[in-house]
Amino acid sequence: MNVLNFGSLNIDNVCRVAHFVRPGETLAAKSFERFAGGKGLNQSLALARSGITVCHAGKIGADGLFLKEILQASGVDCRFLQVDETLLTGCAMIQVSDTGENCIVLYGGANQELTAEEIVRTLAEFDAGDILLLQNEVNHLAEIVEMATGRGMRIFLNPAPMGENIFRLDLKRVDTLMVNEIEGAELAGCGSPGDFREVLSLLREKYPTVNILMTLGAEGAVYASSSGGELVFVPASPVEKVVDTTGAGDTFIGYFLSGIVQGLPVADALKTASRAAAHCIAVKGAANSIPWRGEHPDLQE
Ligand code: RIB
Repeated sequence: MNVLNFGSLNIDNVCRVAHFVRPGETLAAKSFERFAGGKGLNQSLALARSGITVCHAGKIGADGLFLKEILQASGVDCRFLQVDETLLTGCAMIQVSDTGENCIVLYGGANQELTAEEIVRTLAEFDAGDILLLQNEVNHLAEIVEMATGRGMRIFLNPAPMGENIFRLDLKRVDTLMVNEIEGAELAGCGSPGDFREVLSLLREKYPTVNILMTLGAEGAVYASSSGGELVFVPASPVEKVVDTTGAGDTFIGYFLSGIVQGLPVADALKTASRAAAHCIAVKGAANSIPWRGEHPDLQE
């Protein structure tokens, strides 16, 4: 079984701030750093650092070549990663507060310039039973879902950041939806997140054939199988000091999928994912804070 992640690669420009900038305000940053990021890249790194072989497909400009090097240094297969020197690599402007929370403005750049031909060429290398991981930071998502379904691939979708296009996707074709509370509430059609059980039950009604993983921030995560049965919960793993939450959701998703690929019971996959996310939160940056399984005994249990 092969794993393909068709996903974004971003240059994260991170300012640490006393508070998030307000309308009309000019705010001096306490520090500025540039990191590798992008939900796609982060999730590929989490898979690779957990020990899974993953192919990353996507697009960068010449300014993003260091992102490819970071993926390769973690063992990600970059055969399907395009470099177009006429384009700018996607980038994110990120503010991180003293409490470790973030807010992000994205410029899609090369992530939004995938062509139908590149998608066909890439997916032609994958077959029934192979896994496709997707987020919502590249263009042509509907076409990717359609073609991958035609090839019998098993699709794991993290519809982040949420956008109108997600409602136009045929979500019945997805094997597993991986959302946070806000994305879950939007998909369920209840606006703001209230009781997550209610959101989950609406999602199960709307998408009865889809497995749903919902991360609940400090409350942990919950999984609802499409085959029914009890919800599976995992509490959030303790973190001594929250330094930077950027990439924690991506780490959770990569490690969770890693467990599924290895054939672990969902509860075990969730437990390791929760521990991996806790390690990520304790370090600043996105890609560089994604833990390697071999460096943490609690990720090897
Ligand atoms: O999920 C975190 C990521 O979101 C950042 O790395 C940023 O690039 C945005 O894509």
